Amino acid sequence: MYISNLLGIGILLANFAAGAPTNGGSKAFFYKGHDISSLKMLEDGDTQAVFKDTARGNATRRAEDILADGGMNGVRLRLWVNPIPGQYDLDYVLALASRLHAAGQAIYLDYHFSDTWADPQHNNAPVAWPTSLEPLAATLRAYVNSTLHAFEDAGIPLALVSLGNEIRHGMLWPLGHVDVEVEPEDARVANFTGLATLYKAARCGVDDYVDTSSSTQQPAVMIHMDNGWNVTLQERWFSSLTATGLVTPADWDVLGFSFYPFYGTTATFENLATTLDWAANAFPGTPLHVVETDFPARCDGEDAPELSEPDIAISAAGQTAWVRRVEEVVKAVEGGVGQGVWYWEPTWLNNTSLGSACQDAILFDQDWSQYPRVTGYSRSSVDMFLDSV
Ligand SMILES: *[C@@H]1O[C@H](CO)[C@@H](O)[C@H](O)[C@H]1NC(C)=O
Ligand SMILES: *[C@@H]1O[C@H](CO)[C@@H](O)[C@H](O)[C@H]1NC(C)=O
Ligand SMILES: *[C@@H]1O[C@H](CO)[C@@H](O)[C@H](O)[C@H]1NC(C)=O
Ligand SMILES: *[C@@H]1O[C@H](CO)[C@@H](O)[C@H](O)[C@H]1NC(C)=O
Ligand SMILES: *[C@@H]1O[C@H](CO)[C@@H](O)[C@H](O)[C@H]1NC(C)=O
Ligand SMILES: *[C@@H]1O[C@H](CO)[C@@H](O)[C@H](O)[C@H]1NC(C)=O
Repeated sequence: MYISNLLGIGILLANFAAGAPTNGGSKAFFYKGHDISSLKMLEDGDTQAVFKDTARGNATRRAEDILADGGMNGVRLRLWVNPIPGQYDLDYVLALASRLHAAGQAIYLDYHFSDTWADPQHNNAPVAWPTSLEPLAATLRAYVNSTLHAFEDAGIPLALVSLGNEIRHGMLWPLGHVDVEVEPEDARVANFTGLATLYKAARCGVDDYVDTSSSTQQPAVMIHMDNGWNVTLQERWFSSLTATGLVTPADWDVLGFSFYPFYGTTATFENLATTLDWAANAFPGTPLHVVETDFPARCDGEDAPELSEPDIAISAAGQTAWVRRVEEVVKAVEGGVGQGVWYWEPTWLNNTSLGSACQDAILFDQDWSQYPRVTGYSRSSVDMFLDSV
């Protein structure tokens, strides 16, 4: 942990040196980010998305400028391995990251290590990659090294990289599949060997990159879990991972958790605080983030789920209230290790439910009168990260 603490400090200093915006002088940098991975696709496709700033007389502006005025200082972008061209492939992500870096945003690269979505329900290894463990691990390691070099070659410093996305059920299935739910402890540890081997290979890929990099800013390496409200899950999962002996806490620099209001009524702020305080104690000095969250502006009809914090109104004001409370919880973590909050996909004008059973959790009203073109009008919640809100 000593080494990883030093790394953490190095990263903060590197961010500082690279001119990342600071949250008030001597205070540690706090990320207030949005995942806007789909933005360029929405602009370039038939939808020809255009964004209007309702606080400025409906002026047409870039979405990132509207969100930056609302306090955004970082963006999270997912990367797929061999997808349908144009869907979060390396060229797509480099182009979007380059534009957002130029706009002054810190960049957080979210590796899915798949040709499509990676989450607890989907996490298939890339189709073209080897199907036995050691060759797969070697391919993964080389892929991480080469993709990180591609960002450096494009002049894009990375603040954070997560090795896998929501890896509660592991990654690179089937070899990296895990499930703490179904296995007795011994079998669980055995089953974590595949995941641990692959995670370690990815981590070594970062180190290979660092060894051959001439950049002054190196990314902090993250493990990203979902169900951030469930401390039992987190305890079991991390103890199973480290019990393999293949991965130690020195192999990650930062931890990230997803925390959504609509997948279960136990996703309370109190339970989030319990998880984050547990992590702060289990892995002292490790910065903690809520790396995915969102809240509905609309959620009605028969399928509407029960939300975990029913006192927060389903509305644009509620979106802001939710995120402000998440930010408070993260900032209140013991030892001051809370380091960021990231809203998921606020600009996705044609996919507004954001994986929930609610109709709309994005931060823009949609105007389809010029179909297939779409215009997004900013809601008050675009300002969710302003201290004054
Ligand atoms: C949204 O628009 C993009 C670009 O036009 C398109 O590729 C994508 O399929 C659309 N998504 C949905 C859910 O319709
Ligand atoms: C901005 O556009 C919205 C939606 O078309 C409209 O309701 C509103 O009146 C417009 N505001 C201004 C200042 O034009
Ligand atoms: C690993 O998990 C699978 C299914 O999740 C199970 O069938 C298998 O027995 C487990 N392996 C070991 C070594 O316990
Ligand atoms: C990492 O990538 C760099 C740039 O392509 C390369 O020079 C270096 O040999 C790679 N490291 C390893 C261990 O493969
Ligand atoms: C939390 O996670 C544990 C371990 O996976 C699981 O057994 C439990 O059902 C989860 N709690 C809830 C409320 O889903
Ligand atoms: C819309 O978003 C959901 C996740 O919220 C995703 O599963 C789906 O693939 C997206 N649709 C398109 C066309 O990208």
